[in-house]
Amino acid sequence: MNERGKMGRTLKISVLRYNPLDKKDRPKMQTYEIEETMGMTLFVALNVIRETIDHSLQFDFVCRAGICGSCAMVINGTPDLACKTLTTNFKDGEITLMPLPVFELIGDLSVNTAKWMQEMTHQIEGWIVTNEKVDINLIEERMEPNIADEVFELDRCIECGCCVSGCGTKRMHEHFVGAVALNRVARFHIDPRDSRDDEHWYDLVGNDDGVFGCMSLLGCADVCPKNLPLQSKIAYLRRKMVSVK
Ligand code: SF4
Ligand code: F3S
Ligand code: FES
Repeated sequence: MNERGKMGRTLKISVLRYNPLDKKDRPKMQTYEIEETMGMTLFVALNVIRETIDHSLQFDFVCRAGICGSCAMVINGTPDLACKTLTTNFKDGEITLMPLPVFELIGDLSVNTAKWMQEMTHQIEGWIVTNEKVDINLIEERMEPNIADEVFELDRCIECGCCVSGCGTKRMHEHFVGAVALNRVARFHIDPRDSRDDEHWYDLVGNDDGVFGCMSLLGCADVCPKNLPLQSKIAYLRRKMVSVK
């Protein structure tokens, strides 16, 4: 490493370029060469490319800290967060970036996960429903610590979409809700404040678009950047739904 923080090697970053709004455009790979610097993430690398080589390159970042989920993309074949991926992970310095499949392409590496997540939320009714009268002066209700821990664990989902893009079932079955949705259902199912019963959840996800559509391929669990227990929560939901009918 020299005094300017350069690591002494050139990265070759190939990016899928495509603007779906331009009728004449066709998808193509474009390779950029930049010098690697100390602690460089793909977030930094893409910004270097956009600032110094190609101002038209489209990609999304908000938090740069693995919290907002907006920087998810396919990195050398695997969905992951670009802001949490160090360029030093790639020993040969060659990196291929593609947009997440499944989601609507905005352009280059930018996809519309928000639209998909909103539709999914409505499909599974992904919000708290309670029959209790809500006291607006009561900020928090007491919850058993072990249940609170479990709810908190599942609430760590950042809706990045990696699990959906990494699921072979989703690629074959358009209406399958995906692991992010099943994680959300499990989260409300265990929440004691939610008054919906198993029959209600069965009507929503006890079908082939829901928990019975999952073929246990486990790509979701492999790529989830938050290491959520997707495998065990899908199995939990399946057991609950089987016992309904
Ligand atoms: Fe991302 Fe994991 Fe949430 Fe899926 S479950 S959207 S991979 S954080
Ligand atoms: Fe897909 Fe995960 Fe099921 S990868 S098939 S949602 S176990
Ligand atoms: Fe927010 Fe990467 S920029 S998770």
